[in-house]
Amino acid sequence: MSSDREFVFTANDFAHVQKLIYDNAGISLSEQKNDLVYSRLAKRLRKHKIHRFDTYLQLLEDEKHPEWEEFINALTTNLTSFFRENHHFTRLSHHLKDNFSRATKDKPVKIWCAASSTGEEPYSIAMTVASAFGKINPPARILATDLDTKVLDKAIQGIYQLDTIEKLSAVQKERFFFRGNGKSSGQVMMRPELKSMVTFNQLNLLSDWPMKGKFDLIFCRNVMIYFDKPTQYKLLDKFSKHLNKGGLLFVGHSESFPDASHIFKLDKQTVYIRC
Ligand SMILES: C[S@@+](CC[C@H](N)C(=O)[O-])C[C@H]1O[C@@H](n2cnc3c(N)ncnc32)[C@H](O)[C@@H]1O
Repeated sequence: MSSDREFVFTANDFAHVQKLIYDNAGISLSEQKNDLVYSRLAKRLRKHKIHRFDTYLQLLEDEKHPEWEEFINALTTNLTSFFRENHHFTRLSHHLKDNFSRATKDKPVKIWCAASSTGEEPYSIAMTVASAFGKINPPARILATDLDTKVLDKAIQGIYQLDTIEKLSAVQKERFFFRGNGKSSGQVMMRPELKSMVTFNQLNLLSDWPMKGKFDLIFCRNVMIYFDKPTQYKLLDKFSKHLNKGGLLFVGHSESFPDASHIFKLDKQTVYIRC
């Protein structure tokens, strides 16, 4: 800990933050994350005009304190992009064409994007579905959830900087986005048909899941990496109960679950099939 820091942040305070975020969001923070925690939460102390982390953390003793939402939002890592790990979208497209050509509005393909961050991932799914069915309003429903309410707000708006879509093809840009002009130049907005395919809701993967029916496909990418092994396997067990047999589970590039082979068979490149 360096003494030239603006706020008092002791080893005890760090341990306290580690416990709070683990118990409430499942996120395991290693010792190396000390500086990251300091810088992310320093903004919150500044906002409250508090000078010590222990005083700030006292606010969270009240389970209903509005600061809880800000605390969790500050400590989540929301990095994402359109068509991240592009091979997953190629796989999705083939899977849809091979298995769901008979889907209808009454019996749509059901997809869950379980850590959707600012929306680039569920909208990439929506674009892939639209392309696979060859229509902008295909028979598909996408549920997109995240713990962080700030990223959900941005996702619902569906407005992005132009450079975030630079790698998309000209056809994708034209079909799926409106280009901003005037005050909004330099921005793009998802077309309403795409937005209407996706429902955004807050959901903590560690809490109870309110969804009743099963999904055909689940994306849970680049979030389980923040959880410890017992939490990851508990989640996989829950995913298996929410995914139809033969359904696909897409996980992040550095996530692998060899001990779940009784419920999920590794297909290839971080795509698992529900046994
Ligand atoms: C690194 S982003 C990954 C986004 C996207 N899935 C992707 O791969 O591009 C991780 C996301 O997981 C969310 N997250 C972290 N802990 C969570 C939890 N317990 N429940 C639900 N979402 C969580 C974060 O808010 C963040 O948006």
